[in-house]
Amino acid sequence: SSSLSGFGAGKVILLGEHSVVYGYPALAGPLSRGVRARGEASNKCQLVIPEALTAEQRKVLKAAFGRAMAACGEPGVKVSFDTDLPLSMGLGSSGALSVACARVLLQAAGRKASATEVAAVAWEMEQEFHGTPSGVDHTTSAMEQLILYRRKPGAEQGRAKVVESPKPVKLVVVMAGARSPTKLTVGALRERQKRWSERYQRIFREIGLLASEGAEAVEEGDLEALGDVMNVNHGLLAALGLSSPGLDDMVHRLRNMGALGAKLTGAGGDGGAVIGLFHDTGPAVHELTRLGIRCFDSQLAGPRSEGTRG
Ligand code: MEV
Repeated sequence: SSSLSGFGAGKVILLGEHSVVYGYPALAGPLSRGVRARGEASNKCQLVIPEALTAEQRKVLKAAFGRAMAACGEPGVKVSFDTDLPLSMGLGSSGALSVACARVLLQAAGRKASATEVAAVAWEMEQEFHGTPSGVDHTTSAMEQLILYRRKPGAEQGRAKVVESPKPVKLVVVMAGARSPTKLTVGALRERQKRWSERYQRIFREIGLLASEGAEAVEEGDLEALGDVMNVNHGLLAALGLSSPGLDDMVHRLRNMGALGAKLTGAGGDGGAVIGLFHDTGPAVHELTRLGIRCFDSQLAGPRSEGTRG
């Protein structure tokens, strides 16, 4: 029996996290890091769950895989996975895992594994991981392109428009905070916005406009404008109570290192990652690594020069 393999890319939200949950657009792109799933023929459909997980994590993972497995008609395959993505850092590890499993399950079922099919199966898993996610994570992972994503009210899947870039869009991704569960941060924001709906909706709407402006800046190759939009977006995320001293400190550090723009990415809260946009990521990665700060660089879009890692 031949073995199957599927990759799910991690993701970075350039603009529009959180407001995307409320129906506004977000700009997000894939990382070259992600989750690799492998499948071997087996008499039953099952997922090999890593030893290191807590009882609660195992339960969620089992339930999530159960939904994807059912969506694919329970093909006889034993799925295992590994990852080089920092977990619970707002880099889309659960979406990446969902996409990797979906690819293997669809192949095992002898079905097409187009981005649309993969996204539909991965969506089953994502709902189990996150409750009411916007869908931006697994869609970015399944499409593996920079996209402007918008959740459609009432619809199962959101809509994604590919954003082409004439210039390389290069980021430094810094693990600036502790691990932070997205579900809690999203839930706490939901309570605040219920209570002070108009004020919060105004800011969500403004962030949505920034995401669209950022997509235009990318298409025009105007990285300075993209950087400025990122800076403003970070300020509004802070206004929504989604930043922390640690994240703010890293944002300022990256700007001092010459970032065109810097902001938190993903859910924020107490933890997670910060991104900086650079013409050349090399010096910042070198300096941060020298200081013992965990980081990596990644190109999200645009032409790739020979020998560039993602
Ligand atoms: C998670 O990567 C981004 C959030 O906007 C949540 C979501 O989109 O479901 C915080």
